[in-house]
Parts: sequence; structure tokens; C-alpha cells
Amino acid sequence: MRIRAWLPLTLLFAGALSAQAPQAGQSLTWAYPVPDATPPAGAADPAAKGIPGSSRSYTQAQIDDQYNPPDWFPDEHSPLPNVVQKGVQAQACGSCHLMSGMGHPESATLAGLPVAYMLRQMEDFKKGLRKDPKVHEQSLRAARMNIISAGLPEEDMRRAIEWFAALKPIVWYKVEEAQTVPKSWINGGRMRLPLPAGGTEPLGNRIITLPQDAKRVESRDPHSGFIAYVPPGSIKKGEALVNNGGAGKTIACAICHGEGLKGLGDVPRLAGIHPIYVVRQLYDFQVGANTSTASAQMKKVVEKLSEDDMVAIAAYTASLNP
Ligand code: HEC
Ligand code: HEC
Repeated sequence: MRIRAWLPLTLLFAGALSAQAPQAGQSLTWAYPVPDATPPAGAADPAAKGIPGSSRSYTQAQIDDQYNPPDWFPDEHSPLPNVVQKGVQAQACGSCHLMSGMGHPESATLAGLPVAYMLRQMEDFKKGLRKDPKVHEQSLRAARMNIISAGLPEEDMRRAIEWFAALKPIVWYKVEEAQTVPKSWINGGRMRLPLPAGGTEPLGNRIITLPQDAKRVESRDPHSGFIAYVPPGSIKKGEALVNNGGAGKTIACAICHGEGLKGLGDVPRLAGIHPIYVVRQLYDFQVGANTSTASAQMKKVVEKLSEDDMVAIAAYTASLNP
């Protein structure tokens, strides 16, 4: 009884402490989006819709059905493996990674990544070797994949991965250096969208990724990409870190990630990948949220990187054509 009575007090005290002293890495919340408590006025649009170039039409409820997501352009890919189109144990891959495999900033790109690399990630997610870092646990990024991979039959997993690996990646980002950016909010699906009321705010040392056309992206349109607003000077700074290691701060990436960062063997491509995803991975490697055997190769690379360095690296890699 005594212990029970103590518990809430202890929790309160811990809560008060953490509110006063921000933990390391907390400044990266923009890379680990969490839904806003209340959506802004004018955000919802439940009408049936189409997108340019597709003869199909879906309601927003159908578009947001993660167990049966829309397939706007069935002629642009080979037949969908079952789990890409239909959620069985968990949501369908195509709802978050799209039928193009390019995905959204809050998920990940899979198009054209090596089969061996992706299968290894699925194993690592399943075994809990790749997790969310403690300070961003509520963002539920790796946590999504920890659950999805755990319930997936081996054969379904292989088919889905081989299908995504065969897709051709496209240019998905326009990278712009900027001092100020549109004011934005995070929707229930953890995507950052411009505020319907407009307005701007300072970018600071963040990367803010927004749809080039919010309505189309909210329709899971596989032809409509994103803008990444990055700090002035960051692309050039990132290029120096990536290409020659920034005078011993890190290791030149192309040695392992291939020329133009287009991938090499089972080491994945970095060119044109979601920049906030790249920041998440660099930070996850640095704080040991990824403890897989293969991730050990990234240890020395990230050891001395500051958050500003990670921002610069991601700004540069996002600017490269896949
Ligand atoms: C509910 C959304 C969601 C669904 C459904 C989903 N994923 Fe993911 N997936 C994610 C997120 C989020 C990440 C990125 C995790 C992070 O940022 O650490 C991810 C990452 C991955 C990665 C790692 C990519 C990389 O570059 O390392 C692979 C592989 C992957 N998913 C495969 C799949 C497959 C196969 C399916 C279907 C069986 C699937 N995912 C379904 C959200 C999802
Ligand atoms: C010694 C080889 C090596 C070097 C050098 C290297 N990497 Fe990697 N990197 C890897 C390997 C191997 C993986 C895959 C790890 C895994 O399977 O978990 C990886 C994974 C990554 C990922 C995660 C990709 C994804 O899709 O999730 C990022 C981001 C990354 N590296 C960035 C960089 C950057 C930026 C540099 C240069 C500053 C760099 N790496 C240099 C070997 C290397």
C-alpha cells in the first residue's frame, strides 16, 4: 500500500524534472514527427477525389484505409504482392511506403533498395535490434516496423521486399535553402502539412519537409513529391562531409555507399532519400538505437557528428538524384 501511494508522487517528480531539463536529442523532434493534439481549422476534406492522370477515384476514408490503400496507377507496376495491397496481420505496406515505394518523410523509401539490405532490416526490426531511440519513443517510427515484421509470414515478406526492390526510384525532393518556411502542423498520420491559415516562421537549424501539393500527397498520389527546406549553406557543408569526411570528422560515404551514393552491393542508396529519415538513421546509429551487426559499420561514421552536421549531410544527400 505504501509503495502504491508513493508511485504517483515519484512519477510527478520525474515529470517535473524532465520538463525542466531537456534531454539530448530532443531538439530533433522535427525528424521524429508526433501528431498535433488538435488539427487546425479547415484541415479535413472528406470528399471523393481523383488525381491527375488516373482514371480511378477514392474517398478520403478509402485513401486512409491502411488495410486496403489506393492503387492509383496499376499499369505502372507489376502485380501487387498480397501484403503490399491488403493488410492481413498488420497494415498493408503500400499505405505507408506507397505503390511506388517512394514513401512519405515520416516512413521510408524502399524503391530500388537491395533485397539483402531490406531483408536484413526486416530481421532487425523483428528481433528488436532496430528500435526508436528512447527520447523519441513516442514517435513510433521503428515501432511500426517492429510490430509489422513480427507478424509477417516469411514468404509474404520475401515477395514484398523483392517487389519493392524492383521498383525504379524517382526524384522525390526539391531541396531549397531558406531562412523562413511556411508554418506547419503534424496530422494524425504523422505527416507535416502547411497550416491552412498560412503564415511563415524561421527555419532555424531544422529540415522542414512539406508536400509540393498537400491535397495530392494526402491522396497518396505516387507522382507528387516534397520540398525540403534546409538551412542556408547546409548543402555545401554536407557535400564536404560526405565527399571527404570533413577533415577527419567522419568517413567519406562513397567508399561503402557507392559512387553518387547510389548504393553498393547490399549497402543502401542514400541519394534522394527523405532527408528527415536520413537524420533519424544517423541519430539512431549514434545513440545505439540500432544494435545490428551491420550497423557497427556506421559507428565510426556518426561518432563525432553534431546535429548540425547531420542536418547538412541529409540536405546534401536529398539533393542528389537517385
Ligand atoms: C504504418 C506504416 C507502415 C507500414 C504499413 C509499413 N511500414 Fe515499413 N516503415 C515504416 C516506417 C515509419 C519506417 C521507418 C522507420 C524509421 O524511421 O526508423 C519503415 C521502414 C521500413 C524499412 C527500412 C527501410 C530502410 O531504408 O532501412 C523496410 C525494409 C520496410 N519498412 C518494409 C516494409 C514492408 C515490407 C511492409 C509491409 C509488409 C511495411 N514496411 C509496412 C512504416 C510502415
Ligand atoms: C564502412 C562503410 C560505411 C561508410 C564509410 C558509411 N556507411 Fe552508411 N551504412 C553502411 C552500412 C553497412 C549500412 C547498413 C547498416 C545496416 O544494414 O543496418 C549503412 C547505412 C546507412 C544509413 C541508413 C540507410 C537506410 O536506408 O536506413 C545511412 C543514413 C547512412 N548509412 C549514412 C551514411 C553517411 C552519411 C556516410 C558518410 C558520412 C556513411 N553512411 C558512411 C556502411 C557505411
